[in-house]
Amino acid sequence: MSQTDFIPIKTARLLIDEFKTSDYARLREIAFNINHNADTRADEGYCPFYTFQVDKDTPGRDNVIRQKVSEFLIKAEKERLQEPRSTYRMAVRLPDGKLIGNVTVDMLPFEENGKKIYGDLGYFIDPQYGAHGYATEAVRGLVHHFFKKYQKLDITAHPANKFSRKLIERIGGMQVGYNEASHYGHGEPRAVFEVHKADFYRSCAFNRKMPGLLAVLVNRQKGTPNV
Ligand SMILES: CC(C)(COP(=O)(O)OP(=O)(O)OC[C@H]1O[C@@H](n2cnc3c(N)ncnc32)[C@H](O)[C@@H]1OP(=O)(O)O)[C@@H](O)C(=O)NCCC(=O)NCCS
Repeated sequence: MSQTDFIPIKTARLLIDEFKTSDYARLREIAFNINHNADTRADEGYCPFYTFQVDKDTPGRDNVIRQKVSEFLIKAEKERLQEPRSTYRMAVRLPDGKLIGNVTVDMLPFEENGKKIYGDLGYFIDPQYGAHGYATEAVRGLVHHFFKKYQKLDITAHPANKFSRKLIERIGGMQVGYNEASHYGHGEPRAVFEVHKADFYRSCAFNRKMPGLLAVLVNRQKGTPNV
């Protein structure tokens, strides 16, 4: 069974699958929307997705954003061809195929500053589709497959990123540290979070309805590495 057998993923309202070259125009629109939101809603705690982040006063800003979108799609294609595949940089779509966001997870741990990082979850949603629970639903759909292999997921967020922090808490994450600097954006600080498998499933709606199923799911995978 190949690692990619879980793609595409269907959730109640979404389809999670690979990016395609033809996603460029729609992804560019989303990148513009995200930068616009970051320009106008920073005081509400909205932070730009660092991959598409281009400061307002950057000369030729629109072209720089376009360039970043192209690079994102090239990266996604390279990652799709990784052998073995580590990074799952996935497109989040409505059932009619319309692209509305992204969720990315690393299925192989990597070393950073002498520490093993698991998952390194990332995501964005088109602000026009925000506040509908789509980002959380997409994250849950992909992370469920991550937790078939691992017990813990690592994620960082800009300390001012209120919406990302809320999402992390919604899926059972807790802040465990703080980095003064990072390799994201302009080297901004990052709040460091961990999501533990049991807390992830405990946070799911089905667990609130059928709490007995949680123990079955958490204990089902024998030999899952302890991290
Ligand atoms: C982080 C980000 C994805 C969060 O987006 P979001 O729209 O807040 O998250 P969701 O799509 O999961 O929506 C959640 C909200 O929808 C609400 N909602 C409305 N209808 C819902 C439904 N049917 N089901 C579930 N939730 C619903 C939830 O209550 C929640 O609102 P609340 O936080 O006020 O309680 C978004 O802000 C973003 O793309 N930011 C830029 C990129 C970024 O920062 N990425 C993170 C890098 S670490």
